[in-house]
Amino acid sequence: MIALGADHGGFELKEAIKKHLDEKKIEYKDFGTYSSESIDYAKIAYKTCQSVVSGESEKAILCCGTGIGISMAANKVKGIRAACCSDYFSAKFTRLHNDANALCLGGRVVGAGLAIELVDVFLETEFEGGRHQRRVDQICAIENGTFEE
Ligand code: RB5
Repeated sequence: MIALGADHGGFELKEAIKKHLDEKKIEYKDFGTYSSESIDYAKIAYKTCQSVVSGESEKAILCCGTGIGISMAANKVKGIRAACCSDYFSAKFTRLHNDANALCLGGRVVGAGLAIELVDVFLETEFEGGRHQRRVDQICAIENGTFEE
């Protein structure tokens, strides 16, 4: 299951991503927003990310105008590693190296065609582990207040 969320700035992009996931028969849950009426991105990030940290969803895809605000909010949720991407390399390597579990996209930055490429590579790429696991563990330690220099 993929958790989807967007504010008004990312609403149209989320709808395009839903259409793509439908075509690929990938299951998702849509946490809103459901129109282009203004809504605060932190609220959407929080709801959508809860679905990932509870184990209901494997990953989240979040959209706002830039992808930045919603990624900042998502990264405040314990257990979320959100990456704001607008290029293919970053969307791939944030899975390979960071084990990112949320992809954030800017509806006013990337077109639907590129966004769909980013979604596909993000969902299809496995974490490499190895030395990268140690680094992800360090991120978790910072989050948990147990990081030792
Ligand atoms: C909303 O206008 C806009 O600020 C929001 O979608 C996002 O870009 C924030 O980072």
